[in-house]
Amino acid sequence: MVRATPFLLVLFLALGAHGKKCSLTGHWVNDLGSNMTIPAVNGNGDFTGMYHTAVTATTNEIKVSPLQGTMQKGPNQKGQPTFGFTVNWSFSDSITVFTGQCFVDSEGKEILRTMWLLRSRVENINNDWKATRVGTNIFTRLPFQE
Ligand code: BTN
Repeated sequence: MVRATPFLLVLFLALGAHGKKCSLTGHWVNDLGSNMTIPAVNGNGDFTGMYHTAVTATTNEIKVSPLQGTMQKGPNQKGQPTFGFTVNWSFSDSITVFTGQCFVDSEGKEILRTMWLLRSRVENINNDWKATRVGTNIFTRLPFQE
């Protein structure tokens, strides 16, 4: 019995992780150190929240900025839904759109894998070619916050 306990524990954790659903609601931090809060997702899958970026492409002072997004509610999401959101930066002329999926990893941990496009404002159409940056961010849940 004593020898079987670790095995049963691993089995329990593996099965537990399998059934767990990924929820966008809560506090998140990404690989750049940026923080994001999504207080709630409504019945249509729509949500608003706040984004505190750790970095900026500008020389402006960083301020918390609003985000608006939507999550797929289709029947095949299987607890790991796709989503998208837009951050309208309150301290710059730029907009970022994120698209991603909310996963539960093998340890039962929720993780958001995203790609983004950051559109900066340029003075004229000749500079359009250099106006968009692209990248990825990985978000993990920040527990124990109000
Ligand atoms: C700006 O610099 O004009 C606004 C801030 C942009 C921050 C970007 S958005 C993509 C990447 N992920 C982050 O968490 N921050 C940067």
